[in-house]
Amino acid sequence: MYKPNDITYPLISWYKSNKRDLPWRSDYNDKNSPYFVLVSEFMLQQTTVPTVIRYFEKFICRWPTLFDLSNASENEIIQSWSGLGYYSRATNLLKTSQIIADDFSYKIPDNIEVLKKLPGIGVYMSSSIVSIAYNLPSKAVDTNIQRVLTRYFQLDYSNPRINRKNVENLVEELTLSASPRDVVQALMDLGSSICSVNNPSCNICPIREHCKARSKKNFDFRNNRDLKSLPKRYGNVFVIRNRVGEYLISKRPDKGILAKTYQFPTTDWVDDRNYKKLITNFSKRDMPQIGIVNHRFSHFQLQLKVIEIPFSDYQLLDNYTFQNSDWVALRNIDKLGLSSLMRKVLKLIKD
Ligand code: ADE
Repeated sequence: MYKPNDITYPLISWYKSNKRDLPWRSDYNDKNSPYFVLVSEFMLQQTTVPTVIRYFEKFICRWPTLFDLSNASENEIIQSWSGLGYYSRATNLLKTSQIIADDFSYKIPDNIEVLKKLPGIGVYMSSSIVSIAYNLPSKAVDTNIQRVLTRYFQLDYSNPRINRKNVENLVEELTLSASPRDVVQALMDLGSSICSVNNPSCNICPIREHCKARSKKNFDFRNNRDLKSLPKRYGNVFVIRNRVGEYLISKRPDKGILAKTYQFPTTDWVDDRNYKKLITNFSKRDMPQIGIVNHRFSHFQLQLKVIEIPFSDYQLLDNYTFQNSDWVALRNIDKLGLSSLMRKVLKLIKD
């Protein structure tokens, strides 16, 4: 019969000497840590730890407290997020900080039900914040934790929702039996280093003794969608330079993918069948292509043709392409906070 301590004792003792040195983990105290944990958890949604570290440090230098962040402007926050992707995280983080400032006297709540209702904070993040920032039990399950415990107990994962519920209950049990902060982060670190997706290193795993994946030699656990199975979309992106060398840059709509970020004007992104219908005015004209940009989003892959349009002709493009646009000098484009996708286009121009 399994006892939570079979996992938590060896796990935490491994964690004490092997934990990753991450900037939001330094010296927990009720004054700074909840804010650091909040910012890091927003950044860590969909982004890897090494990338987040760089952004996190700059972000905290600029807005060291929740008070500072709650007084920032939306444009500043989006700019600081440039390249991290999923920009709604940035605007939600700002909104959340403003609500905490106004309704909670700048103190980040330690209650899952309250946190869950704030913009951008769902079930997972509210749990991870209470456990990591306030050391309270929770059901915090990210993909690493899900993989580690699914393997350890050989849980069924044919239905991801049911699997997740089962793992959540296990995490609750484990965080009730030992320091929640340590349990949650130790499981995350174990998943990212030892119990990796493709090549688990069981020989150095602190919890190998009772691990069913190890005894059954079954490490199957497919968590990420296969790249090949992602649908493909296509579009055109236009590089248009005026007579004084500035480029036309537009701002994306307030809703939808890459909301509110700046871009070189693009057509809609469509599937293969609809591609030929894009930019009808230009279909018979010469449009020099200066490159192709490929980009992967969480739910589709995108291929954009980068096309240079002569200044004299650009008004022939469909109007929607230019909504909210302005001319910007090349040296200032970087400062706008471009998405990673648009930085690839910018690189083509600079190279
Ligand atoms: N992934 C999500 N949250 C994390 C955290 N706090 N530490 C490491 N990886 C994470």
